[in-house]
Amino acid sequence: MIVITAPTGNIGRKVVEHVLNSNVRVRVIARDPSRLPSRTHARLEVIEGSHNDLSVVDRAFEGADAVFWLCPPDPRALSVTAAYVDFTRPACAAMIKYGVRRVVSISALGRGTPMAANAGYVTASLAMDDLIASTGVSLRSLTMPSFMDNLLRQAAPIKHQGVFFSPINGDRKLPSCATRDIASVAARLLIDTSWNGRDDVPVLGPQDLSFNDMARIMSDVLGKPVRFEQVSFESYKAGFIQRGMSEAMAQGMTDMARAKNEGLDNAVRRTPANSTPTTFRQWCEEELKPAVIEA
Ligand SMILES: NC(=O)c1ccc[n+]([C@@H]2O[C@H](COP(=O)([O-])OP(=O)(O)OC[C@H]3O[C@@H](n4cnc5c(N)ncnc54)[C@H](OP(=O)(O)O)[C@@H]3O)[C@@H](O)[C@H]2O)c1
Repeated sequence: MIVITAPTGNIGRKVVEHVLNSNVRVRVIARDPSRLPSRTHARLEVIEGSHNDLSVVDRAFEGADAVFWLCPPDPRALSVTAAYVDFTRPACAAMIKYGVRRVVSISALGRGTPMAANAGYVTASLAMDDLIASTGVSLRSLTMPSFMDNLLRQAAPIKHQGVFFSPINGDRKLPSCATRDIASVAARLLIDTSWNGRDDVPVLGPQDLSFNDMARIMSDVLGKPVRFEQVSFESYKAGFIQRGMSEAMAQGMTDMARAKNEGLDNAVRRTPANSTPTTFRQWCEEELKPAVIEA
């Protein structure tokens, strides 16, 4: 039995589809089961509720061999530690109670770098992994750079002003990956019963690109000029607060971006094993272009 958290999210819903193809029993935890895709819903066992609720994970983890663990973004949390580590505590208690064998977590690049000590969401994600590992389960933490999919949030300025923004230097080459590739790596590990112990599994996408490189590819695919504009860390943070994020979570986003600007995501050497197939150009053609047309 494989338990999948966040099954309506970008990564989680694709993990569900992959895992169902392997004919394993799948149980999902969903706050609102009506949001599950109709083509998969009938083949799932559904536990209703949030995966930070002890009574919910207590029902969900009984009989579970493997768990896909994704801590959802909480823009109003009082601290990044509350958002990631405290959110995960009830699940850790249930993992111990039911002797869950293997967990695949969604995490971030940066472990072992000096920048990881003050990298906001990343620092908290790494602490979350430490908490899960402390239960004694076998753990594979998928460690990601920023997702290509994050750019969908900027579909409107890309369409209307031909520009997208970040506080990161536009010439810094960085890995980036597509959520579809993260889901296929996660599903492969969930189905595979041969691994144990603890390890990080970097998911780096196919190549390192700067935001200026991305702007050139977007311009080509969208058939109109798109440019990158670097903004200050102060205005980046202020933008989150203006959109309703708590002070602590806005600071967490800003600390993370500053750490990435100092090389947080550049420490893992790229190999064929940690490179994933979806190119930025392909992602732009298949995901960004339709989103920009609709924006
Ligand atoms: N974006 C990046 O560049 C990046 C990089 C590295 C790691 N990550 C990590 O990736 C994760 C985000 O993945 P994603 O993009 O797939 O997320 P997503 O699409 O935003 O999905 C979040 C999921 O969590 C559920 N959810 C939201 N609040 C919840 C709550 N309080 N209790 C239970 N479920 C809740 C949502 O479902 P309902 O609303 O239907 O309940 C949804 O299924 C985060 O852990 C983040 O730290 C992100």
